Amino acid sequence: MPEQIDERALLGAAAAAAAEAYAPYSGLRVGAALLAEDGRVFRGCNVENASYGLTVCAERTALLAAVAGGSRAFRGLAVAASGATPPYPCGACRQVLAEFCDPALPILIACIGRLDRAVRTDLGTLLPRAFALREKTE
Ligand code: THU
Repeated sequence: MPEQIDERALLGAAAAAAAEAYAPYSGLRVGAALLAEDGRVFRGCNVENASYGLTVCAERTALLAAVAGGSRAFRGLAVAASGATPPYPCGACRQVLAEFCDPALPILIACIGRLDRAVRTDLGTLLPRAFALREKTE
């Protein structure tokens, strides 16, 4: 992740977002923080549903909040969760992120309580050759 990004702050925002998780079924609290090009940080948490398949992940919640807030360009993503294993974004979230983010998008992944041991990766590593219908123009 480039130096101008405050990794600790972004991870802290992701951990704070996880506190808002609605996860009565899995018990796993996930938070995401997406740093927009303009410096704004959009947070998201997982929101589960009694009809399990309608659950929305933290990463998508954050991305949709950002787009609804007028941001479509991003500099980094942090994800933090309450579990014992680093919360790598699911396949669906990777594809949705690829709609708006370059493969170079830095991604930090950490367990809450062990934010100092975050895994650093990027979108292109997690989802090489994302599906696309057209060249990105906007
Ligand atoms: N979850 C996320 O929030 N992000 C992911 O990338 C994978 C899974 C959530 C969905 C559900 O509420 C819980 O984790 C267990 O699957």
